[in-house]
Amino acid sequence: MSISNKINEIKDLTRIERIGAHSHITGLGIDDTLEPREVSQGMVGQIAARKAAGIILQMIKEGKIAGRAILIGGEPGTGKTAIAMGLAKSLGKQTPFTAIAASEIFSLEMSKTEALTQAFRKSIGVKIKEETEIIQGEVVDIQIDRPSTGAGVKVGKLTLKTTSMDAMYDLGNKMIESLTKEKVQNGDIVRIDKATGKVTKLGRSISRLREHEVSGNKVNFIECPDGEIQQRREDEHTVSLHEIDVINSRAQGFFALFAGDIGEIKSEVREQINQKVAEWKEEGKAEIVPGVLFIDEVHMLDIECFSFLNRALEDDMAPILIMATNRGNTTIRGTDYKAPHGIPLDLLDRLLIISTTPYTEKDIHKILKIRCDEEDVDIQEEALTLLTKIGVETSLRYSIHLITSASLVCAKRKGTQVSVDDIKKVYDLFVDVKRSVKYLKDYQDEFLYNDNGNNTMSVEN
Ligand SMILES: Nc1ncnc2c1ncn2[C@@H]1O[C@H](COP(=O)(O)OP(=O)(O)OP(=O)(O)O)[C@@H](O)[C@H]1O
Ligand SMILES: [Mg+2]
Repeated sequence: MSISNKINEIKDLTRIERIGAHSHITGLGIDDTLEPREVSQGMVGQIAARKAAGIILQMIKEGKIAGRAILIGGEPGTGKTAIAMGLAKSLGKQTPFTAIAASEIFSLEMSKTEALTQAFRKSIGVKIKEETEIIQGEVVDIQIDRPSTGAGVKVGKLTLKTTSMDAMYDLGNKMIESLTKEKVQNGDIVRIDKATGKVTKLGRSISRLREHEVSGNKVNFIECPDGEIQQRREDEHTVSLHEIDVINSRAQGFFALFAGDIGEIKSEVREQINQKVAEWKEEGKAEIVPGVLFIDEVHMLDIECFSFLNRALEDDMAPILIMATNRGNTTIRGTDYKAPHGIPLDLLDRLLIISTTPYTEKDIHKILKIRCDEEDVDIQEEALTLLTKIGVETSLRYSIHLITSASLVCAKRKGTQVSVDDIKKVYDLFVDVKRSVKYLKDYQDEFLYNDNGNNTMSVEN
């Protein structure tokens, strides 16, 4: 079985969707001329930053940049992560996108640089062109002989036809299983990959249209194919360098991809793979697709990681690095030096910086409305206005959180629309940061390990 087939199988198994903080965002919401629309694809306002991100997106799509780095900087809750997610959604499946939070690399069972290397290699795609041999045609007859004892190896024969020929194939146990699993029957048009034995039902022959008129089932009727039954086809798959690494390292092979139990990969393995990929590229069998690595909360990286990034960006096969931070002038982790965003100056110097700005009341109103729709919460206009006011005075995040809890309160009183009272109730139940800090100050003597406020975190906004 080829690498790409194995990986596609795994991807099918592990793709799980959930309603997350950014699930309402389906793109950057820009038009063909890269101009951001006021509200589009779940995105609201933040026009300048979205326009900048749109330009980056365009360059990535055209394959114009690799080994560049972009920093999105701005206050908490101004949509930095949201913009990165929008960019990811707009990229399409063929361009790898990896998102990590900087703190993740300290918690894995591997060195920081190994974790970063893996993240880098996950973000570089290798488009592999493969010649596959397939047989394709309309099923004329399937014959399966079961041994009289009921157990043991099954054998059988499959007859296929096209408009110009027919042919009979012997079936082994495995093929019989696949055909049975796909419920293939006479009159189906099938494609079988000779190398993997994968059976794909393309549809049902038009000549069988009559039989199904009554059944009302959704069946895809197609013409019986013409030409040869056995064909060669060019297939393209994109896999990441990391996926190739994992499959080629250690005995556990590709199962490690499910288990997540990958461990460190030897540098010799990577070198061999780089060489192999370079050969494929030379021979026209493969193409490198630089993807995007997004490192959120990048100020959590330390000085060693930053110098790793500096170097990694100069590699031939570097992805586009996008980072986000909400820190201003702060200490670079692992040193006593301060720098803008907690990022060393030599790295800062290589970055294109995009800034996000705080939202207006109108923007907050629109974002909250989108979130209500996303969470299927029906809300009264006055309640939304109150929620917006809360958002302006506390934070956008806090008011987004209140949506879910308010809708639960509403459901509890068997209401159908979230009302002003529901919002008031959850506002009292769950305090925002400002109130929490005030509470701490007021009652500091009662808390454990209190140092009389000299050392409490200050919250300005
Ligand atoms: N312009 C926007 N349009 C729609 N939704 C937005 C927009 N900006 C932010 N949001 C939503 O508001 C919430 C907070 O935004 P986000 O998490 O992107 O902030 P952030 O800038 O990454 O903050 P932090 O610095 O704390 O990480 C998210 O649920 C996000 O999806
Ligand atoms: Mg964020």
